[in-house]
Amino acid sequence: MAEVIQIKSLKVHYPIRSGFFNRITDHVLAVDGVDFMIEQGKTYGLVGESGSGKSTIGKAIVGLEKVTSGEIIYNGENITKKSIRKGIQYNKDVQMIFQDSMSSLNPKKRVLDIIAEPIRNFERLSDQEEKQKVKKLLDIVGMPEDAIYKYPHEFSGGQRQRIGVARAVATNPKLIVADEPVSALDLSVQAQVLNFMKNIQQEYGLSYLFISHDLGVVKHMCDNIAIMYKGRFVEIGTREDIYNDPQHIYTKRLLSAIPQIDVANRDKHKEERRRVEQEYSQHQQNYYDQNGRVYDLRRFSQTHLVAMKDGGVE
Ligand SMILES: Nc1ncnc2c1ncn2[C@@H]1O[C@H](COP(=O)(O)OP(=O)(O)OP(=O)(O)O)[C@@H](O)[C@H]1O
Ligand SMILES: [Mg+2]
Repeated sequence: MAEVIQIKSLKVHYPIRSGFFNRITDHVLAVDGVDFMIEQGKTYGLVGESGSGKSTIGKAIVGLEKVTSGEIIYNGENITKKSIRKGIQYNKDVQMIFQDSMSSLNPKKRVLDIIAEPIRNFERLSDQEEKQKVKKLLDIVGMPEDAIYKYPHEFSGGQRQRIGVARAVATNPKLIVADEPVSALDLSVQAQVLNFMKNIQQEYGLSYLFISHDLGVVKHMCDNIAIMYKGRFVEIGTREDIYNDPQHIYTKRLLSAIPQIDVANRDKHKEERRRVEQEYSQHQQNYYDQNGRVYDLRRFSQTHLVAMKDGGVE
């Protein structure tokens, strides 16, 4: 299977300034050494609590955040430097969908101009051709043609998110970074938008980096998953590895914290949760070093890697 993008030892550290001279006194280690790759046509999930560094990884990949160290390899080329991204039209091939469409879609622009903007950067189309193309993109995400003359505020949250999807696919990209694309939506609307995203993926052979804190949504969407904590990966694997055979205590705690709707299994679930919490209090040192830092990943199986102390796995 061909890989679309490979991330190697990526670090993004933000300076903290303080004092009278506003000097850099420390750094936030937002992303602190992560490695992964995304295959063509697949969805890679990034999960973790607020502040764990998910968006920072997404922004570094699309070039919105400066990389402190490490490499981003796209189609065999190191595109970590901006000049190289320009040379290969990287900004056409890799697009982003944001969580909050109200602030990410320009409120003063009509939908036509919003969706056509990325096209205009890379293609010369006549007004007529452009209009046709935008209407087709709207159709793909289940929106009516006449939406092109309206403004973002005239739509519901779910409709705006679909406009965001149409905009992201306008340049026929290879990879879309979707940062919490449905987190602001009602459950029923979430399902709609996710289904459009899946259909588009099949039609275009797209890859997604799918960022979410919702383990239910991730299970529905992702082939491979990385669980993130404090800028590091605690565990990566296939969907089955993560949901059926979690190894890191952080992953286990996340999974056991999912509310159980199934009444019949409630007691069993409660018991499981108690067991996980007990393991956490007794064996934390297997999972975090003395500074609370997540260990490096070790291979647990062909597809499954877990961050544990030397000798902690197997
Ligand atoms: N521009 C910035 N300057 C300084 N620190 C930043 C900046 N952007 C993010 N951070 C810090 O980096 C860390 C990671 O932030 P990030 O936005 O990547 O988290 P996240 O996992 O996307 O969280 P959420 O689920 O809340 O969106 C946080 O501690 C955050 O405060
Ligand atoms: Mg975020």
